[in-house]
Formats: sequence, structure tokens, C-alpha cells
Amino acid sequence: MEVIIQPNYDQMSKIAAQIVVEVLNAKPNAVLGMATGSTPLGLYKELVRLHQKDQLDFSRVTTFNLDEYVGLPVNHPQSYHYFMHEHFFKHVNIPPQNINIPSGTTSNYPAFCEWYEQRIAQCGGIDLQILGIGSDGHIAFNEPTSSMSSRTRLKTLSKQTIDDNARFFERREDVPVYAITMGVGTILDARKLILIGSGKAKARAIAQAVEGPVTSMVTASAIQLHRDAVVIVDREAAAELTMRDYYEFIYAAKPSAPRS
Ligand code: PGA
Repeated sequence: MEVIIQPNYDQMSKIAAQIVVEVLNAKPNAVLGMATGSTPLGLYKELVRLHQKDQLDFSRVTTFNLDEYVGLPVNHPQSYHYFMHEHFFKHVNIPPQNINIPSGTTSNYPAFCEWYEQRIAQCGGIDLQILGIGSDGHIAFNEPTSSMSSRTRLKTLSKQTIDDNARFFERREDVPVYAITMGVGTILDARKLILIGSGKAKARAIAQAVEGPVTSMVTASAIQLHRDAVVIVDREAAAELTMRDYYEFIYAAKPSAPRS
């Protein structure tokens, strides 16, 4: 795992965007795994800027979002469909038919989840999965005790996640209790992972994910099992990492390090 510590949120977002650019340069028809939440907003803003200024091309890209709330229609302002269109898709040139987001309103969840997994496989698998992290250590909506080999399915949100996400809703009771989410196993199948984390509220989860034991109590710790995972954090989110100096040394020395 590579851990990159940046001075602030903007720098964190730029480094993450640079990795997306590298993947697209190597494979213009890459399959990208998308995340929602406050954390990736800066990354999406930077990708939109690169699309507008440098003609970064998404015309052959396919996307799969990690998760969606159950019960929110696509035009609900807190649905992840709405979020993605507002903050990213409407500003870049991804063909609409290449955009995949779990349905929060299907009449048959098991069938939809199976179809979503099949569709990822049909598209050749995910080349780069973007991840945030919950303060309870979740990736996507894989709450504590989610199986490390789980696939796309319905999950009940934890109290911590409902509390964290209540800020986006008028009332706490309005936060959906269920979500449809890619599983930890689905995420681990991606060829490359980038996990971004910002702010002191994430410091403990980041330390547990990067340096703690691999445990389903912190599903983000599953990234330790992945052969190509990059964690990009700002200083505040890095505050509880015990090997911080080592990560900073490696990153600073990277340009002159032997090529692996
Ligand atoms: P946030 O959410 O980016 O809004 O903090 C992250 C997550 O819950 O995965």
C-alpha cells in the first residue's frame, strides 16, 4: 500500500485526480468506480477542470458507482444519482449509457444486485476504484461486520453513518436506513484502489484502515489485502498514523527511488 500525505484537502484532491489521469492516459476506455460524499468533491472538481481546460477525454469511459440509498428516486437531491450528475457527469463527456449507479428504487433488489455484478464483469471489471472512508471505517456502505468477500447487496446503515449523513437531510428521520452497495469483495476485485480521507474526523478510521488489523469491524482495512492500493490523506486525516514519517520519506524520495 502506498500512503501519500498532503498538506491540505486541495492538494489531496489534485494528487487523486492525477492518478485518474494516469489511468485514462494508459487506457482511454477505462472502467472507473465512483464514490459519493463530501470527500471526492474536490477530486471531481479537478477532473472537470482538466476536462474543460486540457480536454481530458471521458468519451470512452464507463463508470460504476459504489452505492445508493434505498427509497430515494433518482431526482431526489440527496440521492447519489443526483449527486453524481450535479457534481460530475453533467460537466464531462461520459456517454450516458456508460454510467452505472445502483438503483435505489428497483422492485427486486437481489436480481438487481446480481445484474450489477454481471454488468461490471461484462465491462471487463473496474480498472480504478475511488473510495472515501466513513468515520466507522466503512468503504462504500460496507458497515462494520460486513463480510470481506461480500458482493453487491442491501445493507442496513449503522447508527454512526446515519448520524454522519444526517447533515445532508432536513431531519435525522429522513436519512434512509437501507442502501444498496458494492461489497468488499467487489471492491477488492478492482485493479487499482485509491482511498481518500480528509479532516480530523477521519484520522482514527484512516489509522485503523492502514495500520490496524484486517478486520470486518473496519471494512476499509480490507485494502491491506489489495496489491495496488493508494491512500491519499490530508495532514489532519493522517494525524493518527504511527508510521507517518516513513510514508513521507518514501513519497519525498520517490522520484529517485529504484523503479519497481
Ligand atoms: P464523506 O463520506 O466523504 O461525506 O465523509 C465518506 C463515506 O462515508 O464513505
